[in-house]
Amino acid sequence: MCGIIGYIGNRNAAPILMSGLKRLEYRGYDSAGIALVSGETVRVHKAAGKLTRLEAVLPKRPGGKLGIGHTRWATHGAPTDANAHPHLSPDGSIAVAHNGIVENAPALRTRLRAEGAEFASDTDTEVIVHLIARTDEQPLEQRVRDALAHVRGTYGIAVVDAARPDCIVIARKGSPVIIGIGDREMFVASDIAALVRHTRQVVHLDDGEIAVVDARGFRTMTMDAQPISKSPATVEWEDDAYERDGHAHYMYKEILDQREAIERTLGGRVDRRFHTAHLGGLNLDASELLEVKRVKLLGCGSAHYAGITGAHLIESLARIPASAEPAAEFRYRNPVIERDTLYVAVSQSGETIDTLMAVQEVRRCGGRVLGIVNVVGSSIAREADGGIYMHAGPEVAVASTKAYTCSLVALALLALQLGRSRDLSPERGRQFVEAMERLPADIAAALATEAHVKAVALRYAHCTSAFYIGRGPAFPIALEGAQKLKEISYIHAEAYPASELKHGPLALIEPGVPTVVALPHDALLDKSIASIEEVRARHGPVIAVTHPGDERIAERADAVIEVPRTEDMLNPVVMAIPLQLFAYHCALALGRHIDQPRNLAKSVTVE
Ligand code: AGP
Repeated sequence: MCGIIGYIGNRNAAPILMSGLKRLEYRGYDSAGIALVSGETVRVHKAAGKLTRLEAVLPKRPGGKLGIGHTRWATHGAPTDANAHPHLSPDGSIAVAHNGIVENAPALRTRLRAEGAEFASDTDTEVIVHLIARTDEQPLEQRVRDALAHVRGTYGIAVVDAARPDCIVIARKGSPVIIGIGDREMFVASDIAALVRHTRQVVHLDDGEIAVVDARGFRTMTMDAQPISKSPATVEWEDDAYERDGHAHYMYKEILDQREAIERTLGGRVDRRFHTAHLGGLNLDASELLEVKRVKLLGCGSAHYAGITGAHLIESLARIPASAEPAAEFRYRNPVIERDTLYVAVSQSGETIDTLMAVQEVRRCGGRVLGIVNVVGSSIAREADGGIYMHAGPEVAVASTKAYTCSLVALALLALQLGRSRDLSPERGRQFVEAMERLPADIAAALATEAHVKAVALRYAHCTSAFYIGRGPAFPIALEGAQKLKEISYIHAEAYPASELKHGPLALIEPGVPTVVALPHDALLDKSIASIEEVRARHGPVIAVTHPGDERIAERADAVIEVPRTEDMLNPVVMAIPLQLFAYHCALALGRHIDQPRNLAKSVTVE
């Protein structure tokens, strides 16, 4: 959730660290800091609040050609100057930036206090600094290894030492750290977003690895000091993919991107000859696909909602029992792992800790996991047995938009391939393939509703509560619609299967509480129209997201937003668009911080 950046080379480190932190600010944005090594001293500058606060406290010309920086999303300790990273050892020689959580920090604090340590912050991270600073005879990497041997929890860390102005030591367990290879300069970061403007050659550390990075190269080793050789990979995304392209918000840019993003997800994967999908990355041959008896989809938040739609897609096209479960619930309930179940982890970042841990749990028990992931080379992508990259392009706004719809498309491709390897007929396969190929145009038409959606949003932006309902495959549309609204507008929004309304939530319907109804023209349409009646009878305003052509809806709803009709199972892709725009325009009208909403962070790498 936090971001780390580090630099060693011939240039001034501070501007490089600051521009890296800007790129990482979406990962956490409640405080930030940098530590610069120069002339055998480490100077730390940090400030609570957004990065502009840190800019304001930096000296005019901060020296140093080696340094680390951090942008924070508070877990242990409030977002204050003192709790901001990097943390400095009491003698001022060692600075540490840390992502993750030291679970045994209280016990370590007690032990270190008994040895005379005094703490300057409330963070868990500070114990790591004290542990490293305890001894000074060994090489820095050995001191870091010794310190980490006491730590229970997760970490991605970067360490600098005034006595070693020629290197940065990094280590990883559960929280990513990447080395960026430059020309006689090297970078480290928790996220490629901070590296692509300098280099596209990167090396990912795996869990349990440590590296010593100097201006000319790096050495990687295990925690037992066994050397490991690692080769660089090339990052697929260009630096300008991280720009806002003149838009006021990344979220808006990413909403508009969806047509092209979905074209990329589909690119080269649709087989018109056999009316199926070709997903080379699954690492499953046709007979292995036939052996799949169940599919379990795992993810968190919007990725979980995508998984619910994925389960509908797989059951409908492939007739394989499929279900979705929040990854954290799954991993903590001692799940039964079966050889003939295909586990599918959905994650934009590929770093969400709960999803990653669920993947590890399945693999530990011998299950097979596919990853549907956006960030190439991310932890989940690396841990899974195979998978499908979304190719949505970088998603920077905290609220997921294009990665959400691209994950639905990836799941539709998977469902199609599973279906066509069983008894989905060539004719149904052909119809589905054609509908998938029409999706970019359908998305464009859905985006064209923006002016109308904005007008509707302005009418309802000041409500304090909203309901979202849908039936069958439309229920996850409602879940994701409500999620978008609450995340960025802070309006209380709840989603229910439409049939559940009368079992409780109907008590809350009143004139000031709008209900957004996802109303595809599928077999359940008449029943969904009956749900509108239930809301109207309580004088609740109704916003219908539907297709053109049914007068009954216009007669009953207070606002109607129409998108093209597609295959029933693909409606969630198209209907997501106006709901994203609705949330965006409500949040804009309310003056919210759209890309960096309060209390949230883009990638949740702590439990
Ligand atoms: C989506 O708008 C949310 N920010 C959040 O629910 C997100 O989908 C979830 O944290 C999972 O993230 P991931 O896809 O990177 O795993």
